[in-house]
Amino acid sequence: MTYQIITRTDARTRDLGYRLGQAVTGPLAIALTGDLGCGKTTFVKGLARGLGVDEQYPITSPTFTLINEYPIADQLRLCHLDLYRLGSVEELAHIGFDDLTGTNAVIVVEWPSLLIADRFPFDLTLTFEFNSEYHRVISFFAYGQTVTNMLSSLIS
Ligand SMILES: Nc1ncnc2c1ncn2[C@@H]1O[C@H](COP(=O)(O)OP(=O)(O)OP(=O)(O)O)[C@@H](O)[C@H]1O
Ligand SMILES: [Mg+2]
Repeated sequence: MTYQIITRTDARTRDLGYRLGQAVTGPLAIALTGDLGCGKTTFVKGLARGLGVDEQYPITSPTFTLINEYPIADQLRLCHLDLYRLGSVEELAHIGFDDLTGTNAVIVVEWPSLLIADRFPFDLTLTFEFNSEYHRVISFFAYGQTVTNMLSSLIS
């Protein structure tokens, strides 16, 4: 199932992330693809708040740390990765990524191409593109019925 939306401001992109976060009820792996500055981190800022990450935690880009983790309720965690600087999937072991998979985590990954090539099972892919007016065109691709149903609640 695919769903596309255009956001004209960064606040709109954050709001979209917020609404997705509110719809999430359990572990989920999300890939965010798109060029530099197209709004991936902006989206995650809203997603984190929608998931219930407390305002005391500023949401920053994991540009150099590769991974930032935030507690949510019910033992769920948000793991935000930016793999722009990752050389190979093997390096992920050094940042504890293998320990993450199969745990109670919402995983959201910017620059996910190495993981996609490694067949990491993402539940949802969002692609961010610029249109001619420099707005953001955000497309959702869901895999599986559960995530498709979750997205339906976003659209309606
Ligand atoms: N409609 C919009 N949606 C999102 N961001 C927007 C929008 N309009 C303008 N912006 C601005 O574009 C920039 C997006 O930066 P952001 O860090 O979210 O991009 P990114 O995709 O994470 O980049 P990178 O690949 O470098 O991590 C911000 O400065 C934001 O304020
Ligand atoms: Mg970013």
